[in-house]
Amino acid sequence: MSRYTKQQKLLQQQPKAWLITGVGGFIGSNLLETLLKLDQRVVGLDNFSTGHHHNLDEVRSRVDAGQWQRFQLLEGDIRELERCQAACEGVDYVLHQAALGSVPRSIEDPITTNENNISGFLNMLVAARDAGVTRFVYAASSSTYGDHPDLPKVEEKIGNPLSPYAVTKLVNELYAQVFARTYGFATIGLRYFNIFGQRQDPEGAYAAVIPKWFGGLLQGEKVFINGDGETSRDFCFIENCVQANILAATVTDQEALNQTYNVACGARTSLTTLFELIRERVAVRRPEVAAAQAVYRDFRAGDVRHSLADISKAEQLLGYAPAYSVRQGLDKASGWYLEKFSQ
Ligand SMILES: NC(=O)c1ccc[n+]([C@@H]2O[C@H](COP(=O)([O-])OP(=O)(O)OC[C@H]3O[C@@H](n4cnc5c(N)ncnc54)[C@H](O)[C@@H]3O)[C@@H](O)[C@H]2O)c1
Repeated sequence: MSRYTKQQKLLQQQPKAWLITGVGGFIGSNLLETLLKLDQRVVGLDNFSTGHHHNLDEVRSRVDAGQWQRFQLLEGDIRELERCQAACEGVDYVLHQAALGSVPRSIEDPITTNENNISGFLNMLVAARDAGVTRFVYAASSSTYGDHPDLPKVEEKIGNPLSPYAVTKLVNELYAQVFARTYGFATIGLRYFNIFGQRQDPEGAYAAVIPKWFGGLLQGEKVFINGDGETSRDFCFIENCVQANILAATVTDQEALNQTYNVACGARTSLTTLFELIRERVAVRRPEVAAAQAVYRDFRAGDVRHSLADISKAEQLLGYAPAYSVRQGLDKASGWYLEKFSQ
């Protein structure tokens, strides 16, 4: 039996109290769905700046009434310490996801990104420490590798950040380290590598590439590739990310604490290949899409050229074993986007 299956069974036998910040967002709402299906008690904190109530409505439709009753939503902002304190009360595990994502957004407005991602993070750390939570797991980012040339990326070797967003995620890690040293407060940072899947927002100027391309192809719009198409990423399906969060929250091995881990598949896909994979899947139900071509345009500022994770540290210390490849994840995601855009 995998460690993930074992932990899920244990949680069902002995339910815990969880706090998910950013619960209305893509990753937060998927964490919520899995935890409620495991009969956990969950408090969610969100200011809905980029998240949506309809994500929560969808979760509600996928769990039973008793499970939904174990969820409490707090609308509020992590930039306010009191909101973070109220949210942390009586909580065993914190999964901190709330932040402003997107490299381009941070380049346009570094101050707002800084306030949400650094001041908000610090508030959450203080509130969680003071509430005596068992574990604080937070969303770190592969952007922390910055300009380091090595591939695959190993946790110990990072370069210089290439965007204000990357600075904020690096500062999160530094604060987490200092809280371990200064207050003995244990945390785990998960460096997500391009997570994708159901409920990732296809709308808006700062949409991520996979939802944007599903949306574009399904609506007959032009799809743009920034650069020559050889830029590559380690795309990772959301269920792998949920698994990593649950394993990190429940790990008891001391060696596994106060660490950061790559959360990815350990496989690289170029943007041109990604476009072809998405087009192929959409064309199964919309044959007219089979002939669609992407439009290549300039490289985007702040983007790293290649990204590929070494996931052995998470495998060894957390028991992480990604259950979905990129192709399997895209199969699942395409079902969701096809449904969404045919409503
Ligand atoms: N999606 C990815 O590929 C990826 C990669 C690396 C890191 N991350 C990180 O994972 C986390 C979740 O990302 P996501 O893709 O689900 O994004 P998302 O935008 O869908 O979710 C973020 C959620 O946080 C909420 N939020 C933002 N600022 C807040 C504030 N001040 N107070 C309360 N709530 C606030 C938003 O309303 C939203 O619901 C973020 O920290 C992000 O930086 C994501």
